[in-house]
Amino acid sequence: MTDLKQALSNTAEKIEAVLDDILSPKGAPEHRIYSAMRYTTLGGGKRLRPFLVAQSASLFDVAEMNALRTGAALELIHCYSLVHDDLPAMDDDDLRRGKPTVHMAYDEATAILVGDALLTLAFEVAAQPETHDDAEIRIELVDMLARASGARGMVGGQMIDLEAEKKDLDLEEITLLQQLKTGALIGYGCEAGAILGNASAEQRQALISYASDLGLAFQIADDLLDVEGSVEETGKAVGKDEDAGKETFVSLLGINGARDEAKRIADRAVSQLSIFDAKADLLRATAEFVVVRRN
Ligand code: IPE
Ligand code: IPE
Ligand code: MG
Ligand code: MG
Ligand code: MG
Repeated sequence: MTDLKQALSNTAEKIEAVLDDILSPKGAPEHRIYSAMRYTTLGGGKRLRPFLVAQSASLFDVAEMNALRTGAALELIHCYSLVHDDLPAMDDDDLRRGKPTVHMAYDEATAILVGDALLTLAFEVAAQPETHDDAEIRIELVDMLARASGARGMVGGQMIDLEAEKKDLDLEEITLLQQLKTGALIGYGCEAGAILGNASAEQRQALISYASDLGLAFQIADDLLDVEGSVEETGKAVGKDEDAGKETFVSLLGINGARDEAKRIADRAVSQLSIFDAKADLLRATAEFVVVRRN
């Protein structure tokens, strides 16, 4: 776990620098929109999704900057999703990553625009030659990122999540919700490494299966933290899901049941990586980490 924490923080530092560079566009006027984009993107977050890109890409010896830029594009989408998720019309949250949400620090209209700007910037970054010199690979990166983000991915999951406040969902429906809301971007993180590295179909499928389990375990842990975590640990409000009457794994299985389920799925994630050698050890450790994390 110490090796993993060290590796996560190394990647986080490098991603911070890449994002800082991307968000300092040369020649663009210093403007409120950039200030708000930088406010929400820089200086916080685990950077788990870029880490997954970096680790899956490292299985195939991809150049580091290609993986970092792909990870940065993914992190931009993730940051946009958080800004919009926190809006009054959605989860109505005041705190994110330990500081006021964008609509609190700026205003609601700015938060909507920040989300729009981060979303579109992500595709700009993915499409640029610095991300990969092969245009076909870049197109695939853009295509898969669009799918993971949109109505068949994260946005679709957010829609079902809002509906979950109003109607009872069963375990199968909650699983689909989580696979879309959280699983799709985590899945992209792992698949992007395979795309960048021209992985075989078998290798790519193994990473997809791993990511699917990882995403589920990760979101069950998020739901557990909403019940058991503190504001200090998570940097965001807790107790929100129950207040909103939201159906989650925890509401359906109870705390112990949800924890056991997260553990079982994380173990299954590890088993999906059996075709890879020790190079995949940090991905294996990540699956163990996501269920015991406190933030
Ligand atoms: C929070 O994601 C939103 C979910 C999908 C559960 P993270 O827990 O990865 O948040 P940051 O990026 O570390 O702030
Ligand atoms: C949000 O899920 C997932 C996104 C797509 C942003 P949550 O609403 O559970 O995330 P938190 O708990 O606010 O981070
Ligand atoms: Mg939400
Ligand atoms: Mg939320
Ligand atoms: Mg949550």
